[in-house]
Amino acid sequence: MSSAAESAFEGYRDIIPDFSSFQESLGQPLPVHFRINRLKVQPHVLLPLLRERGITLQPAITADGPFFMAPQVESVGRLLEYFLGYLHPQALTSCIAALVLSPKPSSFVLDMCAAPGGKTSHMAELMGNTGLIIANELFTKRQIPLAHTLARLGVSNTVVTGYQAQEFPLRQRFDYILADVPCSGEGRWRTAGRTPRPSGYHRATKLPDMQKRMICRGFDLLTEKGEMLYATCTYNPEENEAVVDFLLKHRKARCLPIDAPFAGEPGICEWKKEKYDKALRRTVRFYPHRLDSVGFFMARIGRTS
Ligand SMILES: C[S@@+](CC[C@H](N)C(=O)[O-])C[C@H]1O[C@@H](n2cnc3c(N)ncnc32)[C@H](O)[C@@H]1O
Repeated sequence: MSSAAESAFEGYRDIIPDFSSFQESLGQPLPVHFRINRLKVQPHVLLPLLRERGITLQPAITADGPFFMAPQVESVGRLLEYFLGYLHPQALTSCIAALVLSPKPSSFVLDMCAAPGGKTSHMAELMGNTGLIIANELFTKRQIPLAHTLARLGVSNTVVTGYQAQEFPLRQRFDYILADVPCSGEGRWRTAGRTPRPSGYHRATKLPDMQKRMICRGFDLLTEKGEMLYATCTYNPEENEAVVDFLLKHRKARCLPIDAPFAGEPGICEWKKEKYDKALRRTVRFYPHRLDSVGFFMARIGRTS
């Protein structure tokens, strides 16, 4: 591992279990997983078609998919099946987010920070293209790949909006909300091809302030029985547990248990001099030495009854 990455992550030695394996995993290239898009094709139809062309898929998480790796394929994005919308390259941990939130068919869903659309399209798939998803993305240049992803994958229950997520209008409540917020992205840092951002990046950019405003606005937009998933791809407690702790202190919110297809580590309740609500143990941290993918943090949130 590079010395830059070493110093960036050294501060997490006490909170990341089996820290030396974690450090080793950062020296490995990030594997490319993808999801079969069941809005357009079923795995039992696509797998034999690919096999005929010499492409054998390796299942990930569960034996029957829809998550796979194709070790012989250099870039999934160059396959005909990609352009046909049968496949979507997506990190395994990113796929877990929509599964944990699990929006029901015909429900009303808000994806607060949606581009490039991996999780929006996965939610549309789980909903069988029913109900309505508002895919919100602030930046116009990011709305273009978002709309492209949705069109390619045959998503027809989604409209794109361009609000500041933290100021999303309070006119309509949602059954499910995904807050996959902008973050320092530490979970993507591997030495192969990427240089870590300097430690302290999140403070310089005031990310935690924005994340706190986003999580509170998401919560205010929930229906009485609504559920929200707060997610980041960073290990930084100031962007994870501290943000959820802020919500618990300022709203009648609670952490719901997470039933993920792959077990992660529980969230932490103490960081530096800060102590967080014990309920933070219900949040989940995914690490690359446990699940070979992007590092992630997830908190499933509902209203207190
Ligand atoms: C972590 S990415 C979302 C990834 C997406 N959920 C997916 O699975 O493909 C965060 C997104 O939030 C957008 N963003 C940044 N600031 C925002 C804001 N204030 N309001 C809404 N979106 C914002 C970024 O442009 C970025 O596309």
